[in-house]
Amino acid sequence: MHSSSEKSAASVTAAGKDIPDFSKGLAGIVAGRTAICSLDGNLRYRGYSIESLATNGDFEEVAYLLLYGELPSTTEHRGFCQRIAAAASSLDPAVTAALAELARRSPSASPMDALRTGVSILGQIELDQTPGSRESLLAQAECLLGQVPAMLVAWIDLSAGRAIAPWPAGTIASSLLERLTGRVPSANGVAAFGSTLVFYAEHEFNASTFAARTVVSTGSDMHSGITAAIGALKGPLHGGANEQVLEQLTQIASTDRAEAWVSEQLAAKHVVMGFGHRVYKDGDVRATLLGKMCRTMVRGTSGEELERLAERVEQIMLERKKLKPNLDWPAARVYHALGLPVRVFTPIFVVARMSGWAAHIIEQIGDNRLIRPMSLYCGPAPREYRRP
Ligand SMILES: CC(C)(COP(=O)(O)OP(=O)(O)OC[C@H]1O[C@@H](n2cnc3c(N)ncnc32)[C@H](O)[C@@H]1OP(=O)(O)O)[C@@H](O)C(=O)NCCC(=O)NCCS
Repeated sequence: MHSSSEKSAASVTAAGKDIPDFSKGLAGIVAGRTAICSLDGNLRYRGYSIESLATNGDFEEVAYLLLYGELPSTTEHRGFCQRIAAAASSLDPAVTAALAELARRSPSASPMDALRTGVSILGQIELDQTPGSRESLLAQAECLLGQVPAMLVAWIDLSAGRAIAPWPAGTIASSLLERLTGRVPSANGVAAFGSTLVFYAEHEFNASTFAARTVVSTGSDMHSGITAAIGALKGPLHGGANEQVLEQLTQIASTDRAEAWVSEQLAAKHVVMGFGHRVYKDGDVRATLLGKMCRTMVRGTSGEELERLAERVEQIMLERKKLKPNLDWPAARVYHALGLPVRVFTPIFVVARMSGWAAHIIEQIGDNRLIRPMSLYCGPAPREYRRP
């Protein structure tokens, strides 16, 4: 967190020169234009409200919208789903071989590291050096949309010492959920899981997307941009928060302990994961919508207990810090209710955000200017070279 003197943009004059406004963490800075997503009041992907997409669309439809700019026709949707499923069913053998060796050497490594490495290997195999045409970028994006979830389940199998099971037929939501849980999911389970993918698909200039845009703004390639984005998403202040949310709820364990636990965290100046947002200061629309879905999903099951605990923590955070939950707060509970292990929560975010990252990479390349901000120097004054 930043000190209060660094919170807002400030114009500074040093050595007689005007230095542009400075804002720590680029808070409040508009760093570019995008036609992909708007956060103005409501969250919209290419003009469609997130609520309508999460309730009516499937993940492939939304990914197509993000990449191509329009919702697909039935034929376009079918073709898109088939191409992604084909990519998911044929993970490149060089990736499989590398992951197998890595799983043998360090089976406890994070699946996020496996995804970052796997995408990087794909870039090397494809000899991806510089961005190609819009068509070739779209083809790369479609391939990655299938290969990334396939990499995730391959790593889960290999790191558990098992052979890689085949990719089941179906949509990304149904096939991935089936592979991660080891059982054929219910229609309701697939719908809830698919909604989380839609919510996670895109979010404007967040840290990982900005990292991807920065990389390709130098003239670098799609795989380098996605590799950087996965690294950025891994951090607990960004995508890694959904895993931490469940760890925290498990640690609190009961509603009676919630008050004391939050007090301890705040007294120690720790952030409570799943709360607060850089842009949404009055609540995250995705958290409200998915929170409702989660409560409906667990009604009448043992999952209601966790919902009561989550609700209590929400009340306390609002009273104490005036902070509302972000998307990771309900997403972690949905994944837990679906029987998913915590270590795949952030990798699932990668699977979904692949669509947004690729759309932004293509948009950046289509109207590029090198992303290169300036810094405000705060080191020693000029001095003579002298060895200590
Ligand atoms: C998301 C996040 C990084 C945004 O950071 P930011 O925009 O720099 O937030 P700010 O510093 O403006 O926050 C304002 C105040 O709320 C506090 N705050 C913000 N999020 C908090 C949280 N989750 N728990 C406790 N306090 C929090 C800050 O410490 C700050 O307090 P201060 O005024 O006493 O310094 C931050 O809210 C956070 O760390 N949240 C938890 C991680 C998380 O859920 N990440 C997923 C984001 S989608």
